[in-house]
Amino acid sequence: MNTVVFPDLPRLPLPVRALFTGYLLAIGVGLLIAGAQIMLTHGMADGKAGLSLEDVVHSYHGNRTNTRLESALNGSMSGYASDENRAILIDWARAGAPESDWEPTIRPILQENCVSCHTGAGLPDFNQLANLQERAEIDTGPTFASLTRVSHIHLFGISMLFFGVGLIFAFARGFDPVFKSLLIVAPFAFLILDVMAWWLTKWQPGFGWLVMLGGFGYSVASSVMIFTSLYQMWLIREPKSVLAEDAATSSSSAG
Ligand code: HEC
Repeated sequence: MNTVVFPDLPRLPLPVRALFTGYLLAIGVGLLIAGAQIMLTHGMADGKAGLSLEDVVHSYHGNRTNTRLESALNGSMSGYASDENRAILIDWARAGAPESDWEPTIRPILQENCVSCHTGAGLPDFNQLANLQERAEIDTGPTFASLTRVSHIHLFGISMLFFGVGLIFAFARGFDPVFKSLLIVAPFAFLILDVMAWWLTKWQPGFGWLVMLGGFGYSVASSVMIFTSLYQMWLIREPKSVLAEDAATSSSSAG
């Protein structure tokens, strides 16, 4: 006889809406900051501001045509050494930065041209061979170990956030159940796609666009759920009669 009224978002009691709202606001701000951080780290990977496909490829596949020392000597550091000295440094880096050339040839060039700035305070100390050898390797992007670590942290951590967002949105009013379910599943699917795409991009640079699609997909899907939930909790006003009826049924059933 009694129809169970599922408490959809506009009808949730105030304390529950307060809890959900606090959570959604914190997640929303967190997503914005995460976006800013991606712009500042990956976004600058190709040396230009703004996130591009190039950046994604640089971040996961690396820049395999050059060593980092060579990129710097042809780029922002090109003014600090003569063409002749730059050529010597680049050849040395390409040869794998052998220690045998360090004292006789390389170190004096660095002493004269670079060490005034590269003292170890903020910039790598170019009195240390190891610091140059590190920059003389071909940049192949993150190691498997670091990609494995970041992958599982990302999957565990972010799926917890999507779980909360999806759980709240499950109480939203007026969606076709199939559409609603697809929207709830979407961030998880895009998250898995995103992490898989990191590995694919490390292997083949052509997969970079999948990383962008994954990140874009879960950002959009979770934003839609966050905004819809907040809207329904605070901006849909229940007609008085319905609220009164609710109060009457709940007090009679309680009594
Ligand atoms: C006037 C100061 C100055 C001099 C001289 C200078 N650098 Fe730099 N170097 C910087 C600064 C600042 C950065 C960081 C910003 C950037 O990458 O442009 C940097 C960054 C670099 C990087 C990339 C940083 C990294 O962690 O891999 C390399 C490689 C580099 N310099 C090599 C050189 C070499 C080789 C010389 C000498 C031929 C040199 N620099 C001379 C100031 C200097």
